[in-house]
Amino acid sequence: MEATYAVDENRLTDFMGQITNDLGGAYSVAMVKLGDELGLYRALRDDGPATAAELAARTDCDQRYLEEWLAHQAASNYLSYESGSGRFRLPPEQALVFAEEDSPVYMIGGFENAISTIENQPGVAAAFRTGGGVAWGDQASCMFCAVARFFRPGYLHNLVQHWLPALDGVVEKLERGALVADVGCGHGHSTLIMAKAFPNSTFIGFDFHAESIAAANEHRDAHGIDPERVRFEVAPADGFAGGPYDLVACFDALHDMGNPAGTAARVRDRLKADGTWMVVEPNSGDRIEDNLNPVGRLFYAGSTMICVPTALAQGHGTALGGQAGQARLTEVFRSGGFSSVQRAAETPFNMVLEVRP
Ligand SMILES: C[S@@+](CC[C@H](N)C(=O)[O-])C[C@H]1O[C@@H](n2cnc3c(N)ncnc32)[C@H](O)[C@@H]1O
Repeated sequence: MEATYAVDENRLTDFMGQITNDLGGAYSVAMVKLGDELGLYRALRDDGPATAAELAARTDCDQRYLEEWLAHQAASNYLSYESGSGRFRLPPEQALVFAEEDSPVYMIGGFENAISTIENQPGVAAAFRTGGGVAWGDQASCMFCAVARFFRPGYLHNLVQHWLPALDGVVEKLERGALVADVGCGHGHSTLIMAKAFPNSTFIGFDFHAESIAAANEHRDAHGIDPERVRFEVAPADGFAGGPYDLVACFDALHDMGNPAGTAARVRDRLKADGTWMVVEPNSGDRIEDNLNPVGRLFYAGSTMICVPTALAQGHGTALGGQAGQARLTEVFRSGGFSSVQRAAETPFNMVLEVRP
């Protein structure tokens, strides 16, 4: 039997326009990765506009491939094209996104995360059937690096400048000399940024993923920071040691933990009575309707492919998801014995919660 649909031609045209854009973005993921990995963006930033032949000479890449890549980048508004000279230019705004690792809008980590979600897809598809998880350590090969690279610019430009000062009395303690735990620290960028800013304080980063802890210790050594003052240890969030701490921080990690209530109880147990738990989470509203926007779209995809599988793999049957919202997170804090929860700061991507006993 032939199905009949009441199709509105204008809506269909609009939707196909959206899908063409979406597919264009999806195909750009591999193209941006090429530009980063082969040093093409950096070569255009450092030595200015180039034809394909000039860029081939600068980067030791094949001219024919570069002709195609450059045309794609110009069609994407990632490069501009000067038709008279046949040169392609990396505009300054695009350079901040693709070539400046310390810029607040550096997005290469976001593209690398998109690659991770594609690599993770077979494992996650199997988990959809079973309701099981995909362990953090079993996910895409460079996902840990991608995640660290994605979050670092936000920490670099907000943590010391805006987020810590928004917490009552915390900067004064850090300046005098405080004991700090960074739980779920991953590659330790957040820990090292704080450690550099507050040389009188001592920092311990904890994560249950041994490879990430090894990378964090390497980063610490590369920055020449005293291992007596900053160290990284393998430990689960609901069983980390030491303290009593003046400050415990969790950066984009609580929602990945399979036992967030156990983590809250552990933090409460290890925190000084006047201590602070700083919880940085994806910025989201409490209702699905609040998150149906471009940022929510990115986070729900990351949550489906990375965060929920990570949490469910831990065997507690809980997965907060990357868009848990402040109300759901507050239930977790209260279950751990915390009574005060304030939104201290936010960016389009993150909210910073001040959680106190
Ligand atoms: C999205 S990453 C964020 C890493 C880091 N805080 C950052 O912002 O770059 C989440 C981190 O939580 C860690 N994690 C997840 N569950 C954990 C658990 N139960 N105990 C300790 N770490 C955990 C993962 O290994 C991972 O490093």
